[in-house]
Amino acid sequence: MRSDRTFTMIKPDAVAAGHIGAILAKINEAGFRIAAMKYTQITKEQAKKFYEVHKERPFYDELTDFMSSGPIVAAILEKEDAVAAFRKLIGATNPAEADEGTIRKEFAESMSKNAVHGSDSDENACIEGAFYFSATEVI
Ligand code: PPS
Repeated sequence: MRSDRTFTMIKPDAVAAGHIGAILAKINEAGFRIAAMKYTQITKEQAKKFYEVHKERPFYDELTDFMSSGPIVAAILEKEDAVAAFRKLIGATNPAEADEGTIRKEFAESMSKNAVHGSDSDENACIEGAFYFSATEVI
């Protein structure tokens, strides 16, 4: 399992608010290389599959409604210890608890409308990246 890749989505709230450019600038400034990137919109069924691990949680329906409600930017990012480095850059899931300087502190509204997703393990980064990208789309 490689440890230099993670997967991210710029979520519908941040895309709708016009924050794609500012968030990508922060990702670049933090030293991540973009290995794959896609502007797309997923269906409710695709969102349910992506977030299947959370299917028993009370917010599953709200989260999957939201994630299929508008366009997102999906990307595979590369850096040493990518998962941990990216989660540090994005900050806590709850923006009220996110550190100063993090992406969620600056751009997130709430626990669900929290601007960006970041994989929580090398294994999930691999699974989530493969959900959006074929091997030939990863450069
Ligand atoms: S994490 O990143 O897995 O540790 O975070 P977690 O708290 O387990 O949350 C997983 C995803 O669910 C979203 N979430 C919520 N959505 C709606 N309402 C509530 N209350 C809520 N709590 C958590 C959260 O944004 C996480 O989405 P991703 O895309 O994984 O960041």
